[in-house]
Amino acid sequence: MKKIEIIAYGAPEEVAHCIDAPALGDPGPGEVVFDVLAFPINPADISFCRGSYRLRPPLPATPGAEGLGRVIAVGADVTHVKPGDLVINMQRENWAQRRRVKAEDAVPIPPGLDLAQAAMLRINPPTALLLLEDHAALKPGDWVIQNVANSAVGRHVIVLAKARGVRTVNVVRRDDVTGKLRDLGADVVVKDGPDLAERARAATAGAPIRLGIDAVSGEACKRIGDCVADGGVVVSYGSMSGQDPVMSRAAVNMRGVNLTGFNLGRGLAKRTQEQVRGIYADLAAKLRDGLLKAPIDAFYPIEEIRSALIRAQQGGRHGKVLVLPNGPLQ
Ligand SMILES: NC(=O)c1ccc[n+]([C@@H]2O[C@H](COP(=O)([O-])OP(=O)(O)OC[C@H]3O[C@@H](n4cnc5c(N)ncnc54)[C@H](OP(=O)(O)O)[C@@H]3O)[C@@H](O)[C@H]2O)c1
Repeated sequence: MKKIEIIAYGAPEEVAHCIDAPALGDPGPGEVVFDVLAFPINPADISFCRGSYRLRPPLPATPGAEGLGRVIAVGADVTHVKPGDLVINMQRENWAQRRRVKAEDAVPIPPGLDLAQAAMLRINPPTALLLLEDHAALKPGDWVIQNVANSAVGRHVIVLAKARGVRTVNVVRRDDVTGKLRDLGADVVVKDGPDLAERARAATAGAPIRLGIDAVSGEACKRIGDCVADGGVVVSYGSMSGQDPVMSRAAVNMRGVNLTGFNLGRGLAKRTQEQVRGIYADLAAKLRDGLLKAPIDAFYPIEEIRSALIRAQQGGRHGKVLVLPNGPLQ
């Protein structure tokens, strides 16, 4: 069985290697074994390899926060899935050809989902949903501003906000994505820059922006804070710049803008198991119906993890890099 191991923390393409690992064996009681059909390379996986993610396990370690699997065997007492079923894994270490996990972590997905989209169901769609739900009481007609608007999360935010009648100002770092984001339902698309607040004010005709959503951090977070209305909220949920969030004193002290943080694990932990199941069922249906979709830039076999990691860190991509550990998706 092949899997990816990192042998040190450092440049992902240097430290991640595809190795031959021992076979996993049959599932024991309460376990499920599945073949990993696809996994995306997310920004958090890149941070994990670099050693800058919140989890920094002893080495060697296998990355992989999410992935799609097809069950090949279940323990005698497991009834909620059977061989052939498609599952997403709620645990990590998914950069492998095969996984053996606790039965409750193998969550079946409804039929009819595009397999590549299903591999990206666990993290980004609920992140976008909870960013909109948990930080401000948004009503139809309200405005939200977000950066990394062309990311998978950003695109889901545009679609989910539109469905609620919430209007979005979408901050990007390049012009060639404007038309695509408008097609998704973006009300305003602007390039980031020092005069962002003035341009956002002009674009919304001075209407208050209640919520700012930031995943660039550093000075970009400050620019989002300066766009948000008095008493509004900025939620920091990522750091594509590698910096810590910054806010201007004017926003915090004079205008009462609050900076808060978001993490999907914490967001889901506030909810009951039934609510979490409901969220995933609803998001899976939206993926199945094509309402939510993360574009894909390229697919790689697991042996080409180095090329996949190099590509995943390049700007100018139009979507996610996916790895297919067991050959073409079918
Ligand atoms: N807190 C949580 O629980 C949680 C959960 C999920 C995701 N996240 C975070 O959400 C963010 C988006 O994740 P994703 O998987 O949706 O991303 P993605 O689809 O891989 O896209 C990454 C985005 O970041 C932009 N970007 C890259 N480097 C940048 C920089 N230095 N300055 C400004 N923009 C930059 C890219 O712009 P271009 O389109 O122009 O290339 C792209 O739009 C990440 O920061 C991730 O860590 C957090």
